[in-house]
Amino acid sequence: MITLEHVTKVYDNVRVLDDINIQFKKGTVNVIIGPSGSGKSTLLRTINYLAEPEKGQVFIHDELVDASPKRLRKARKAVGMVFQDFHLFSHKNVLENCMLAQINVLNRAKDEAKKVALKHLKAVHMESFVTRRVDTLSGGQKQRVAIARALSMNPEVLLLDEPTSALDPETVGEVLEAIRTIAKKGMTLILATHEMAFARAIADRTIFMDAGKVVEDRNGATIFETPHHERTCAFLSRFTKTA
Ligand SMILES: Nc1ncnc2c1ncn2[C@@H]1O[C@H](COP(=O)(O)OP(=O)(O)OP(=O)(O)O)[C@@H](O)[C@H]1O
Ligand SMILES: [Mg+2]
Repeated sequence: MITLEHVTKVYDNVRVLDDINIQFKKGTVNVIIGPSGSGKSTLLRTINYLAEPEKGQVFIHDELVDASPKRLRKARKAVGMVFQDFHLFSHKNVLENCMLAQINVLNRAKDEAKKVALKHLKAVHMESFVTRRVDTLSGGQKQRVAIARALSMNPEVLLLDEPTSALDPETVGEVLEAIRTIAKKGMTLILATHEMAFARAIADRTIFMDAGKVVEDRNGATIFETPHHERTCAFLSRFTKTA
């Protein structure tokens, strides 16, 4: 459902994405791993046009994504995003955070927006926090709200950019559990993560990136068992040593 063709992104004369060709299928969990600076976040950001590629094209359901307001709106509606640092309104409460964009962007009635928000908050076990201001929540709770908010917009695909890397180890588990629940429901996920054990457990497909290129793109979690490429081996062994 999402296709990237020859996508190239340049920052300061460096190709941080270098001729990326990739397709993501509906209902699959796609995990992107790779060293810091390899281009994982930039890849996710090109999908909803938060980063505009210098070359190449992104398609969602065979429709080109570009800067035209109509197409951009459509793309952003189809693609939800969860960031490492939550991007919530910290002075608003949990329910308001999950309702605002539904009302303002999707023009949903307040009652409907509330119903949808509560459904997704329940799924991530945050229903008892609805009236709490976001700035009083723990990191793991905030990230679960961010996930519920993204899902409340009924996206077709959810991009998650290191959703656990700002969290302390104790709260990582609750966010991973929430992601696992979404995956089980058949949501299309594209997840950039440094959580290798989780990646291995959840991936329908694993993509290893290095220096702006896709080095290895494999079904399931086989990349962890039998990495083919020297650079993948080096990355994974480094991880094993520091884990
Ligand atoms: N807005 C920007 N302006 C200039 N350079 C950028 C910008 N965004 C990213 N870069 C550079 O692009 C490269 C890829 O960055 P990116 O954030 O995609 O890496 P990453 O794989 O997500 O890394 P990490 O694992 O640390 O999150 C890095 O060298 C980074 O410094
Ligand atoms: Mg990143």
